[in-house]
Amino acid sequence: MKVLVIGSGGREHALVWKLRQSRKVDKIFCAPGNAGIGQIARCVSIQPDNFKAIGDFAHRNKIGLIVVGPEDPLANGIVDDLRRRRLKVFGPNKKAARIESSKVFSKEFMRKYHIPTSPFKVFDSAAEAIGFCNSVEYPIVIKADGLAAGKGVVVVKSRQQAEEVIHRMMTRKAFGKAGNKILIESFLTGQEVSILALTDGKTIIPMISSQDHKQALDGDRGPNTGGMGAYSPTDFIDDEMMEMINDHILQRTLAGFNEEGISYKGILYAGLMLTAHGPKVLEFNCRFGDPETQVVLPLLKTDLADLMLAVVNQKLASVGKLDWHPGAAACVVMASRGYPSKYATGVQISGLTGKHENSSYIFHAGTARKDNRWVTAGGRVLGVMGMDKDLRSALNRAYRLVHKIKFDGAQYRKDIGFRATKPVEG
Ligand code: GLY
Repeated sequence: MKVLVIGSGGREHALVWKLRQSRKVDKIFCAPGNAGIGQIARCVSIQPDNFKAIGDFAHRNKIGLIVVGPEDPLANGIVDDLRRRRLKVFGPNKKAARIESSKVFSKEFMRKYHIPTSPFKVFDSAAEAIGFCNSVEYPIVIKADGLAAGKGVVVVKSRQQAEEVIHRMMTRKAFGKAGNKILIESFLTGQEVSILALTDGKTIIPMISSQDHKQALDGDRGPNTGGMGAYSPTDFIDDEMMEMINDHILQRTLAGFNEEGISYKGILYAGLMLTAHGPKVLEFNCRFGDPETQVVLPLLKTDLADLMLAVVNQKLASVGKLDWHPGAAACVVMASRGYPSKYATGVQISGLTGKHENSSYIFHAGTARKDNRWVTAGGRVLGVMGMDKDLRSALNRAYRLVHKIKFDGAQYRKDIGFRATKPVEG
């Protein structure tokens, strides 16, 4: 089977890398991909928003499966478009993708279907939102309704900061239409985990847990980023907790979609807070997490192409249980100086040559080839993954590889995995 992956980041590199291991897949394309992905797949220069060109390419090349990585094309209806052209696509349709593309829809959905989440209020007027902020206990969380490239969620510590954030989102329209409505919700405390679940609209199967590190600096300090590293599995999700997550969150979400007449086929990403009162949903996303994918997929033993086809063909029930490699995986993101704010590109990278095996791998997020050299081409540049018998050994593998890679201004966190409840020894 020929597969086409849509997207160009570290997540898409991990998807391509894993799908290549499938006996079902004999050729893999990525649109547009990046220079690192180009080492293991054929990159085609079609942008993810060009649905027509993607459909034409898929027909011309007899693509058996299209996998959509990022949220923007999903929110804009790529799946509806390609399915109309009788192509097989892994990913939710536009209506289903609203679980991520509208935070207001998502929270109201959770309220309607009794899915545990924090209390919230919706505002479409800056003055009313600011008025409400006079009578709340801080911290609070302010979220723009629409997609804002990971920047639309702010933890706010004071009345003054709330006013500034509300004006930025609603008055100055920092995120355009995404800030026409905002949500103000209570701040939750506990361990944050990510659960990626496969669903074909009838059955939902959670994958193993992972934990992302969103802040730029060690100790979870500094600005929020797209994710500076991750590890899997997390040791605070035991069977009992997973059962609770499945019963109270995943099954209710699937039932809710069906009640709304929405057929969800793809990955449902549940960002959860494990609070003293049980697991609560912080956010849902309609796609694989980045960098969570870079640690969950290496541990997956079940054939990913089989799973994706089972989703597309609504045969997930026949898969039963997923198989996992024992041990752990860790990913350290190497970013450009200045990320998540302004950063330079075109900076030469050394240390990327050399062969690595399945137990360590460099996923490229933002790289390019220039004059036969590797250069940076994004904020997040690389996701360096190590996999081993336990978390410490996996981290050692990842960091050993990180230390060999050099580029001017490279920044990365030194403490990936620090929240693991069992001490990360070594
Ligand atoms: N790692 C966070 C996300 O993918 O949204």
